[in-house]
Amino acid sequence: MTRWSTRIGDHEAHLWLVEPDDIRAPELLDAYDALLTQDERDKRDRFRFERDRHTCLVTRALVRTTLSRYVDVAPQAWRFETNEYGRPAIASPREAGELKFNLSHTRGMVACIVGWNRDVGVDVEDRDRTGRLLDVADRFFSPSEVRALRSLPDQEQWDRFFLYWTLKESYIKARGMGLAIPLSHFSFDVERDVTIAFDPKLDDTPERWQFTAFSRGRRHAVAASMGRKPPERVQLLVRETVPLR
Ligand SMILES: CC(C)(COP(=O)(O)OP(=O)(O)OC[C@H]1O[C@@H](n2cnc3c(N)ncnc32)[C@H](O)[C@@H]1OP(=O)(O)O)[C@@H](O)C(=O)NCCC(=O)NCCS
Repeated sequence: MTRWSTRIGDHEAHLWLVEPDDIRAPELLDAYDALLTQDERDKRDRFRFERDRHTCLVTRALVRTTLSRYVDVAPQAWRFETNEYGRPAIASPREAGELKFNLSHTRGMVACIVGWNRDVGVDVEDRDRTGRLLDVADRFFSPSEVRALRSLPDQEQWDRFFLYWTLKESYIKARGMGLAIPLSHFSFDVERDVTIAFDPKLDDTPERWQFTAFSRGRRHAVAASMGRKPPERVQLLVRETVPLR
């Protein structure tokens, strides 16, 4: 995760991270607003809480300014469409359609992953939350993930839970199908490298994928799924940014 340029190398994917709570300058927020379509403004305004409206605005600014790093298109000129499962992709300009991206947002962090003609998915989660994690795991994770989680000492279960969660979400997002893929139909093994195993019902093979997972600060768990053509190794470059700064 060292070298960096805004050209995506043949064997790279890029991950851009933003901390939305740090972005408060009114002139910057006005500049973000000016990038949005009326539909995007309407979507933002439907959120009840200011925090969610702010995250939505920063997310829109991030995806638009990020895509414009790679292709000579103005940030406000991008148009998006969603597939039947809700995944956004570039609708216009069509020539840029090989630029694939995926978004994720949680309290305190927004992420945009970009790949050139490569399926990509990202998930960020805030570990600072309460909940009955073993109940959630029992409901959503595969039997081997639940076994591995339950075998850990209590103090390690929280981080492992979010590791599985973010990996699983990043995979279903890279496939573009969201929860139409049952989360129990594939399993992550994270003991050494991160590897995946598929239930035969899922039409996929482990060789087609590469995964990266890491922590950002104390709070955030991040995972990325990147499609690949074996034996290719994909390098994920990670960078923090503030859109338009
Ligand atoms: C999209 C989904 C896969 C993940 O949503 P999430 O983790 O709640 O939210 P994230 O912030 O990570 O991702 C949301 C973004 O993903 C993108 N997205 C939406 N549908 C998508 C899909 N089918 N495939 C890929 N990306 C999608 C969108 O850009 C969306 O952000 P936007 O609406 O601001 O544009 C969704 O199916 C979902 O609701 N998941 C529920 C989470 C859950 O219960 N997990 C169980 C524990 S493993």
